[in-house]
Amino acid sequence: LRRDVVLATIPVAVAALLGTGGPAAAGTPGTPCAAGAPGAGDAYFPLSGNGGYHVGHYDLTLRYDTTARQLDGRAVLTARATQRLTRFDLDLQGLEVTSVTVGRARAAFRHDGQELVITPRRTLHRGQGFRVTVVYRGTPKPVTDPDGSADGWIPTDDGAFVAGEPQGAMTWFPANSHPKDKSTYDFTITVPRGRTAVANGTLLRRYTGHGYTTFHWRENRPMAAYLATATIGKFTVERYTTRDGVQVFNAVDTREARAAAPVLRKLPAVLAWESELFGPYPFRAAGAVVDHAPGVGYALETQTRPVYDSAPDLSTLVHESAHQWFGDSVSLTSWKDIWLNEGFATYAEWLYAEQHGGDSAQKTFDAFYARPANDRLWAYPPGDPGSGAHLFGSPVYARGAMALHEVRRAVGDRDFFRILRAWASGHRYGHGTTAQFVRLAETKSGKRLDGLFRTWLYTKGKPDSA
Ligand code: ARG
Ligand code: ZN
Repeated sequence: LRRDVVLATIPVAVAALLGTGGPAAAGTPGTPCAAGAPGAGDAYFPLSGNGGYHVGHYDLTLRYDTTARQLDGRAVLTARATQRLTRFDLDLQGLEVTSVTVGRARAAFRHDGQELVITPRRTLHRGQGFRVTVVYRGTPKPVTDPDGSADGWIPTDDGAFVAGEPQGAMTWFPANSHPKDKSTYDFTITVPRGRTAVANGTLLRRYTGHGYTTFHWRENRPMAAYLATATIGKFTVERYTTRDGVQVFNAVDTREARAAAPVLRKLPAVLAWESELFGPYPFRAAGAVVDHAPGVGYALETQTRPVYDSAPDLSTLVHESAHQWFGDSVSLTSWKDIWLNEGFATYAEWLYAEQHGGDSAQKTFDAFYARPANDRLWAYPPGDPGSGAHLFGSPVYARGAMALHEVRRAVGDRDFFRILRAWASGHRYGHGTTAQFVRLAETKSGKRLDGLFRTWLYTKGKPDSA
């Protein structure tokens, strides 16, 4: 049964109630309602992102009072309608909006859960470029993820740890918050003097006055909203340029400095090693934010500059760095494909060990494979973790890496690394799906790999043959 057939048989009023955009659902008679969808269509996070427009650029001006934990924000989004739009949504959770402007005209808005529903004065036509300005304020709080972890704006004793995977961007700025929609960013962040605000990309300017310091950052490569950060704290800053011309900016909480130093020193070598393996580093800036944020429990590959909740070990640095190619430059189109991020970054850790005097990837694979059939590792298949609650578990990370190792064994090292490089370069600054990766691996190797992928990505339980 097709949807248009159903619609044709139900009264207009019912269609309007269902929000199906039937004729005259809103607005003047004869003007069909053309609301942008409240979500980007993700199976795990149906309300993440929005339909009907693409954001090209975010210009975020933020002021954070670290004592009162109060955020004042103004977001200017440069967007383009991909359909006729009588109204559209942004994702924004837990903050109070004081005004919304579309173009030069004030727009009507209302909150509906995590959706900020905006009705512009004039209908936007398909293909029209427009600018949305949202002024907002409040005390940002993280969201609780389906797996019980927290993400978004997480206050710390001296600022905030800001990491938005998978859905936390909406806790601090209004966004089309799904990795399908990538944009460039400007961040102008004002914090009390003595604190440092670190965002993505390059620091363009920094100035102090009246007891506050303002930091202006720019990320000029497309970025998914969840990879944006504005982490604030009392940090020691280190800046230098690598031999490859990458500008490094590291910010380290004093309490983590001693443990972080020997690991951060390796960053240029890690990036150079990964560039050999995966192709040129995709960004102009790099670095790390090493915060002291007990209770967070993870690091995030925020674009150009990962954030760590505490001093990372070398393997974690390798992991977050590998994400710059796999996850950041090449983005997901659906959270279900999360193994394309985590399996790849985990396999980078195995490769790093193999090539730096540690265990071979085969040995690491064997150690995981030795786990009994009832181990958590085999609880669900990485290609379809089943729900948002299972995005960051060992079946995605370790079994995802095992899947790549099986590909490597099947096609040989030469083709395997050609496949990885072709993946990173062919989808650079864009998106990739599992189906596209499977096709690429088969094309580059000339081998049929559907059975292998079916076994390692999609079959429940511990695979038989290894
Ligand atoms: N992508 C991160 C990493 O593996 C993990 C993020 C976990 N996020 C969360 N809300 N638990 O590097
Ligand atoms: Zn990861």
